[in-house]
Amino acid sequence: MVERTLAILKPDCVRRNLAGEVLARIEKAGFRILGMKMVKLTAETGGGFYAVHRGRPFFNDLVAFMSSGKCIPLALEKENAVADFRSLIGATDPKDAAPGTVRRDLASSKGENIVHGSDSPENGRIEIAFFFSERELIQNA
Ligand code: RTP
Ligand code: MG
Repeated sequence: MVERTLAILKPDCVRRNLAGEVLARIEKAGFRILGMKMVKLTAETGGGFYAVHRGRPFFNDLVAFMSSGKCIPLALEKENAVADFRSLIGATDPKDAAPGTVRRDLASSKGENIVHGSDSPENGRIEIAFFFSERELIQNA
């Protein structure tokens, strides 16, 4: 089924000039980019995005990291987008991620792991709506 997923190129990705490298992998894997922008999250907006993790031991570090620099959210579409994107990026901790995945190849730690991917089609839609209005999602280009 055609699905949508939200990706975020996280602040470590942008800071280390790896955005082009990760975008190339996303394009080569067959994802259509419906929306793309550059944003700087704050503690409030970053905490809101990851609200599901509020109360977890890593939450404060996560919010500090996500608001530490520019991010690039991407609205992506493809058959089986959610699972395929998570296969492309690999496990949360780069040490556990499969060879050839984005996180294994590029991430420096479990906290600073280059990229976010939605964990279900429903959350994909919710997370895309967090960053993009309907008119910013362009189907045919
Ligand atoms: P994401 O939501 O960013 O795509 O990552 P994920 O599904 O692979 O992992 P999740 O459990 O949703 O965790 C969200 C982000 O929190 C940071 N984290 N740090 N130090 C830690 O133990 C730890 N655990 C999670 C990571 O940046 C992770 O991507
Ligand atoms: Mg997650």
